Amino acid sequence: MKELIQKLPKAELHLHIEGTLEPELMFTLAQKNNIVIPYKTIEEVKHAYNFTSLQSFLDIYYAGANVLITESDFFDLTWAYLLTCKAQNVLHVEIFFDPQTHTQRGISFKTVVDGITQALQKGEIELGISSFLIMCFLRHLSEEEAFKTLQESLLFKDKILGVGLDSSEVGHPPSKFERVFAACENVGYKIVAHAGEEGDSSYIWEAINLLHVKRIDHGIRCDEDATLVEFLIEKQIPLTVCPLSNVKLRAVSSMREHNIINLLRKGVLVTINSDDPAYFGGYINENYEAVANSLHVSQEELKTLAQNSFKASFLSEVQKQHFS
Ligand code: HPA
Ligand code: ZN
Repeated sequence: MKELIQKLPKAELHLHIEGTLEPELMFTLAQKNNIVIPYKTIEEVKHAYNFTSLQSFLDIYYAGANVLITESDFFDLTWAYLLTCKAQNVLHVEIFFDPQTHTQRGISFKTVVDGITQALQKGEIELGISSFLIMCFLRHLSEEEAFKTLQESLLFKDKILGVGLDSSEVGHPPSKFERVFAACENVGYKIVAHAGEEGDSSYIWEAINLLHVKRIDHGIRCDEDATLVEFLIEKQIPLTVCPLSNVKLRAVSSMREHNIINLLRKGVLVTINSDDPAYFGGYINENYEAVANSLHVSQEELKTLAQNSFKASFLSEVQKQHFS
């Protein structure tokens, strides 16, 4: 199984670049940039990664991102991720970044985008990994802040394919950002949103009906609503599922309880992704392995999951052909 997973050509569609910050790089950058972090050793960091909910993770994740200051920091972060992609036979990535996490602490939008983009370009040339960049609005912040971020992003529109919505879900439904996403649609951004991770199935309906998403990030709570599952199947709206994340943040009680394979067998276009691999204990192959080890998945099903990752991507039909 492990060998098959390694060999399968894969795309990753749900990956927060800030969530690839490994403790070693966190320490190096903290020292270089004179940033105080609340850990003395790598063991202490790993010990802190004992999450009980999405919010308990986000508090630590935003604190970790404080060590990212210069363009080269964002480059190094992204480059390290791409090297892991190469090692795991990931051929295409659509990565998220959270501009507000950085602009709020005085780092310019340009510093962030330029650092990430330079690594992505190098990855395309030297590693043969194609990529798109998606910026996410932090849903715990206001609509006004999101509009401001959208405005700022327009200077870099040639580098950004789409917009998403992340951070604390419950209490911040998609409807809060309906007008911002309408504006995003107007300027031609592709639209995705986190929904149905901790929020209930109504968040998924809102993401579809009010934000007009092309994909749902997570979406695992769709199975509370049979009509919704039917709709996802009929329209083939993809779910970018992140199994290790779901277990770590206790969105599901154990991997054996995860619904990804049930959804796959019903005909939902599900994909496997790593979300925040430095925090959740594994990159994409470890996510596939965790699913395969706990859920009696056939080799054919693993192949379908990998094929789904290209199908659900924003690659053109011609590019998709090239990968299949
Ligand atoms: N959910 C919401 N916000 C996030 C996540 C997530 O899984 N990862 C990083 N920001
Ligand atoms: Zn996510």
